[in-house]
Amino acid sequence: MTTQVLVVDDVPAMAEQYAYDLKRVGSYHTIVAAGGNEALDILAREPIDCVVLDLEMPGTDGFEVLRRLQQRGIDTPVIVYTGTGSYDRCIQAVRLGAYGFVDKAEPIERVVQEIQNAVSRGRLVTELRTLRSRFDGETPLIGDSAPMRSLRDAIARVAPIPSGVLIVGESGTGKELVARELHRRGPGAKTPLVAVNSAALPEQLVESELFGHERGAFTGADRLRRGAFENAGAGTLFLDEVGELPLPAQAKLLRVLEERKVVRVGGDRAIQVTARVVAATNRDLEREVEAGRFRQDLYYRLNVHMLRVPPLRERLSDVPALVDHSLRSIASHLGMRSKTITPDAVALLAAYEWRRNNVRELRNCLERMMMATDAAIIGAADVPPEIRGGDERDEAADATAPPGTLKALKAQAERHIVLGALDKHDWHVTRTAEALGLADHSSLLKIMRRHGLNKGMHRDA
Ligand SMILES: Nc1ncnc2c1ncn2[C@@H]1O[C@H](COP(=O)(O)OP(=O)(O)OP(=O)(O)O)[C@@H](O)[C@H]1O
Ligand SMILES: [Mg+2]
Repeated sequence: MTTQVLVVDDVPAMAEQYAYDLKRVGSYHTIVAAGGNEALDILAREPIDCVVLDLEMPGTDGFEVLRRLQQRGIDTPVIVYTGTGSYDRCIQAVRLGAYGFVDKAEPIERVVQEIQNAVSRGRLVTELRTLRSRFDGETPLIGDSAPMRSLRDAIARVAPIPSGVLIVGESGTGKELVARELHRRGPGAKTPLVAVNSAALPEQLVESELFGHERGAFTGADRLRRGAFENAGAGTLFLDEVGELPLPAQAKLLRVLEERKVVRVGGDRAIQVTARVVAATNRDLEREVEAGRFRQDLYYRLNVHMLRVPPLRERLSDVPALVDHSLRSIASHLGMRSKTITPDAVALLAAYEWRRNNVRELRNCLERMMMATDAAIIGAADVPPEIRGGDERDEAADATAPPGTLKALKAQAERHIVLGALDKHDWHVTRTAEALGLADHSSLLKIMRRHGLNKGMHRDA
């Protein structure tokens, strides 16, 4: 890939000479611009790797070019060159974002060196940015299990539609991630996504948070405040934990959703609502409606479309991919090198139910495992015992344990349960194993052997 260098100078002969020398010594591809505006036009159009910019130009000078680049968020590296030899001016340019400066009198080899440095730093910055966006907030929804695939399909279907969406799912399943994905594929990155955690709002602040307030609306309202609806503009308003909203606030929210207008607390002007409303909850809202804790009309308003985020135990095949992704994201978050994990450790994690907090629980567990060992590899021994099922093994039913101990009592109970089930199914081992929810008939045979139970006993009886 040839490096493209833009040379900007108001004296055409100067620009041409520089371009010629850079091509010769640095093997660059060069473009010249005769002034600041022309340079800005080219930068908006062409993929330029580095700019060599004259500071002294009539009209749009070098400083102005730097300022505009900053405003537009264009971070192509710029090297300024000057004939005045004024150090102060160069420092000022660097403050405005220039990568470095050279004097017009310096040999071309030094300029090439400077361009080389600037270009490689520019590439690093871009690379870092892509890596960051891969690990940070932009986390994509990981998982290729059937439930995740249908969730992804549903997201793609409703994202472009401006009506309300209700996201339901247990705690830590990824509801917020789904809301972000809806926003990304819907109103898009150029519009805001405003998230309001309804559970964290004190009751008396709910209204002013959502709808805003005028100055002097109540004691303490010493200045005007825009609410979440207004701030969300044409983007997305994400009402997290909407099931926790107090009833009076539910009534006001319903009115806003019906009229698509908000009035700030203490104000009288109606402001049009354009944001799409996405709500999430881990409560069973239908049950909340039955119990009179959630307004039915609001429930129907919010769930024009409903997305269900499946619990992790219903998609355990996603665990390996989630582990892989989480290890890298945790490492980048903590600023440490990522660790690898052995397949048997992953297998243990993929056999656990994660009932308490789903993906969040898995992430937290991985973070603890990462911190608990200095080794670069996480193994099965690093998996916490409660997840390994080790505790249970220790306390497994054991008919030889001293009477009265948990092990002995468990053994008694187990014998009783298994005998009862066998009797009920005419000692048909496969059917009994199935009824008891065991993996297969050999698991039942193992238990029967432990308790000295066999078919002969049945016939004897
Ligand atoms: N499918 C997924 N892919 C990658 N990361 C995920 C996925 N699902 C959840 N996570 C991660 O798990 C954590 C919990 O997700 P999130 O906060 O979206 O859950 P939630 O359903 O909103 O939880 P809560 O009900 O507690 O608010 C986050 O760190 C999130 O990045
Ligand atoms: Mg959440």
